[in-house]
Amino acid sequence: MMHGKRYPLTVEVFADYKQMSQRAADIVIELVKEKPDAVLGLPTGSTPLGFYDALVASGVSLARVRTFNLDEYLGLPRTHPESYYAFMKRALYDRTDLRPENCHIPDGTAADPDEECRRYEEAIRAAGGLDILVLGVGHNGHIGFNEPGSSWDARTRVVELAESTRKANARFFNSIDEVPRKAITMGIGTIMEARRILLLASGEGKAAAIKELVEGEPRPEVPATVLQYHPDTSVLLDAAAASLLRR
Ligand code: GLP
Repeated sequence: MMHGKRYPLTVEVFADYKQMSQRAADIVIELVKEKPDAVLGLPTGSTPLGFYDALVASGVSLARVRTFNLDEYLGLPRTHPESYYAFMKRALYDRTDLRPENCHIPDGTAADPDEECRRYEEAIRAAGGLDILVLGVGHNGHIGFNEPGSSWDARTRVVELAESTRKANARFFNSIDEVPRKAITMGIGTIMEARRILLLASGEGKAAAIKELVEGEPRPEVPATVLQYHPDTSVLLDAAAASLLRR
């Protein structure tokens, strides 16, 4: 894919995590009010928890909204508490009027994972594409589970997790040995087709990745920098995540 034109990212810095989360929710609420059957791309991780809380607290109806999650661990059944499906159930699905049949997330236990990836891409296409995609970012700049070096053309596929990502996510498991080695993730090509992107980052641990995203040269070694080629991306930060930015 050609990534010819670079666009200015919209960077918004908030005093704290709560305000950043509220802003993200407000943007999504406004979209859903305009388009009640909007298609949302959604992330997991610690970062979006405040966003989900604010979305739920607003009481906005999601009865016609369709959602597609970014990724899922390979091999974890939906009943495993650390599967991204279980995460989404706790954080959002069980707290809103979202319909179960409208909530999509790759099946990490599919008999044929490659076929599952193709099916997932097709489901996104059939829904009309993502109106908005909310993203977190890994310490190493990964988006979804697109680790450093991932092709910018990639579609939804099976990937291997970087050791640093497995270590970062080990906090949710009893030990690092329990952290899956592979996942299914939307590819960067899939991500870039979202009509609008909101990337959220909070805390000092993300400051270096954010500096690369906002001020660095776009390159596959820092996957998030691809967003400099996306025509409508907002980067919502708390003060700590913005602390290494020039201004
Ligand atoms: C995970 C997810 C990403 C997420 C990242 C950061 O590995 N696959 O989608 O953005 O970690 O997570 P956190 O928000 O917990 O820092």
